[in-house]
Amino acid sequence: MKPIQWSGGKLRLLDQTALPHQEIYLEISDYREAVRAIKALQVRGAPAIGIAAGYGIALGARSIKASSIKAFQKEMEHVLEDFAASRPTAVNLFWTINRMRRALSTADSRGEAVEALEKEARLIQRQQSAAMAVLSRIGSSLIDDNCTILTHCNTGQLATGVEYGTALGVIKAAAEQGKKVSVYADETRPLLQGARLTTWELERLKIPVTLITDSMAGHFISRGKIDCVLVGADRIAANGDTANKIGTYSVAVLAGENGIPFYVAAPLSSIDISIVSGDHIPIEERGREEVLEFQGQRIAPQKVRAANPAFDVTPHRYITAIVTEKGIIRPPYKRNLKSAMQEGQQCRKPG
Ligand code: MRU
Repeated sequence: MKPIQWSGGKLRLLDQTALPHQEIYLEISDYREAVRAIKALQVRGAPAIGIAAGYGIALGARSIKASSIKAFQKEMEHVLEDFAASRPTAVNLFWTINRMRRALSTADSRGEAVEALEKEARLIQRQQSAAMAVLSRIGSSLIDDNCTILTHCNTGQLATGVEYGTALGVIKAAAEQGKKVSVYADETRPLLQGARLTTWELERLKIPVTLITDSMAGHFISRGKIDCVLVGADRIAANGDTANKIGTYSVAVLAGENGIPFYVAAPLSSIDISIVSGDHIPIEERGREEVLEFQGQRIAPQKVRAANPAFDVTPHRYITAIVTEKGIIRPPYKRNLKSAMQEGQQCRKPG
């Protein structure tokens, strides 16, 4: 499965809104369609958003005709702004935008800029692929044989756009090592990423999965059916507070209350060291219809109001460890996340 592909100057995305019933690939040649696909969750999951945005920005560059580099760079700012406005919480998007802006600033001509941006987008996907493979292998050491894991939302290949996911990548790596693992997947209201996507990916991997509604998690945890919770992240603040799909916080509290480990798996590109705590993480508020309707059918009385925050923040005190490509980070997060980020920076320096 290759959910994000780039070839012949076009972006190909596996439409995640059509899964699991249909496997449809979107052929994208206009950057605005890439922005729309991100907003509509046709491509979703923090690392996948970052990778798709890289290629989308490369598409934007191809469409700009300005011949002077200054005019070209100015027009490119609008493209970057359109992507920045697509989804606010996953920091991977802004990480990509910053990298693309840097690549753009080194170019001396339009031709050089187009080439540099495409090269950077490909590099981002290659590097994220390596990061996810490493963090999956590292994280698998936390998973015992015969372990039952509860997960929330979708954190597999679909969510990363590369061979390994984050939380699901860790589970996949553990299974590849011959460990018997099974998964309880929260359905993930309101858009059912768990019910539609996580179960689909786990079935393909032949890993046993039991689908539950989000509200059943406490029941199964308290009955001793779950050995640990493993989730991904959209943005991790400098103190370890973690934004992830709405409902994650409740699961973390349940894990803490019942004395089972709560792990987060995320690449360094999901860590935002510039934000001191989770209070400063922007939380995306999505359309009310996602809560008021189910598959296009109204489920609440006509005048009822609804709220729809797409993410919540789990305070770092509930997080047992954060798995990254630079190792398993444990408290104190402020110090240990900073060191991991510094190590990550050094690895990226040329030579
Ligand atoms: O709204 P989504 O589906 O993009 O939210 C995705 C999640 O919350 C994932 O758990 C997170 O991005 C980590 S994925 C590797």
